[in-house]
Amino acid sequence: MDMIQLETQHALSFLNDGARDDIRPAVEAAHRQVLEGTGPGSEFLGWRDLVTDPNDALLEDIQATATEIRERADVLVCIGIGGSYLGAKAVIDALTPYIKTPPPPADEREGDKLHTPEILFAGHHMSGAYVRELLDYLDGKSVYLNVISKSGTTLEPALSFRFLRQWLETNFDDADDRIIITTDPKSGALNELRKAHPYKKYEIPRDVGGRFSVLTPVGLLPIAAAGIDIRSLFYGAVSACKELKSAEQNPALDYAALRYLLHEENFAIETLAVFEPRLRSIGGWWQQLFGESEGKEGNGLFPATVQYSTDLHSLGQYVQDGQRFLIETFLQVADDGGDLAVPHSEDNLDGLNYLSGKTMQEINRKAFEGTRNAHVDGGVPVMTLTMASVAPEPLGALLYFFEHAVAVSGYLLDVNPFDQPGVEAYKSEMFSLLRKPGS
Ligand code: PA5
Repeated sequence: MDMIQLETQHALSFLNDGARDDIRPAVEAAHRQVLEGTGPGSEFLGWRDLVTDPNDALLEDIQATATEIRERADVLVCIGIGGSYLGAKAVIDALTPYIKTPPPPADEREGDKLHTPEILFAGHHMSGAYVRELLDYLDGKSVYLNVISKSGTTLEPALSFRFLRQWLETNFDDADDRIIITTDPKSGALNELRKAHPYKKYEIPRDVGGRFSVLTPVGLLPIAAAGIDIRSLFYGAVSACKELKSAEQNPALDYAALRYLLHEENFAIETLAVFEPRLRSIGGWWQQLFGESEGKEGNGLFPATVQYSTDLHSLGQYVQDGQRFLIETFLQVADDGGDLAVPHSEDNLDGLNYLSGKTMQEINRKAFEGTRNAHVDGGVPVMTLTMASVAPEPLGALLYFFEHAVAVSGYLLDVNPFDQPGVEAYKSEMFSLLRKPGS
């Protein structure tokens, strides 16, 4: 697979000879369950249908809505939690500049030239301080809302939406035109609200679970509004799906197999380590995908994201030398665009002239290699995933790669990778404390 490469030699050395060959028939059987829809939870395989049968008309419709937002809004607030925001955040953080330029004020914009509105997220926690600050910040700005909830009943986004909707209705005569809902085709409170308000609506297919929904309007509308090429992102996933169909030379199957074998050796935690801060939110999305899909019935690796070099100066000590139950997957980029060369210094008072002329990318790469070698020596099995570049197409391929891998991985663990019964426990305790009718 050109866009995604997986290197496994530093993990294989922790396993018995032949372990990978021995597990191969089970891995291929799990892969067939995914392709043929014969495993538990197969009614939620719609994330594959999205990319085996692309809906170009929907992509164009989303693009048109995004264009309207980019013409009219200073800020788009995306309201959602879990799978209803992590994918959009992951892609937007990865593909937009570190230092963002705010859109020019409306009266200084040139004609109908598109600008990139600020994309803010809400509804993924219940901090009243955040909502208060957000409402203050929005004052005087042209605002659009995209409220995203498959069930339409999740408390965190529903509450934020109540505050933001009332604020929007107080401040804009055309408030209903500035709200886009993304939800179930028929059920839930957002569909009820729409009976009274003619909001633009996108549907989340019933057979696509929240954490697999980044390539539906859930992720694609905010991503397009951020000025990212959603067609390339989407078709990157389409290519990956084609390439990962064969069981031969399939890095998603290798990744699932090694994770499973290490889990069986009592490794308990997998860190996804990035050396490029813009990829950290990919880790947030990956955590939900793997945590909710695998963590059931006493199974699964606990997924945790680390950002290096930052975390080498905090968690690095533990990874190197703490309890030995960690495996590490590095997410690397072949070309990260960091071609800035270290300047020469005449006096060399900082002693850094040994690096003169080397690029930041080369130095960051050595930091990765050094970290990998040290962690392997310290007893941490390591795999490395390398993306060709941080661009829409390889990122789309990476999203599909992880989705396919986690489905196979869930079947290897003998769990249903597409449900999340454990998420209900906190809700029922919370609702009973809040005296929700019927709880
Ligand atoms: O993966 C999932 O299904 C969950 O994490 C949901 O995305 C999350 O609970 C939000 O649910 P909803 O979109 O129904 O508000």
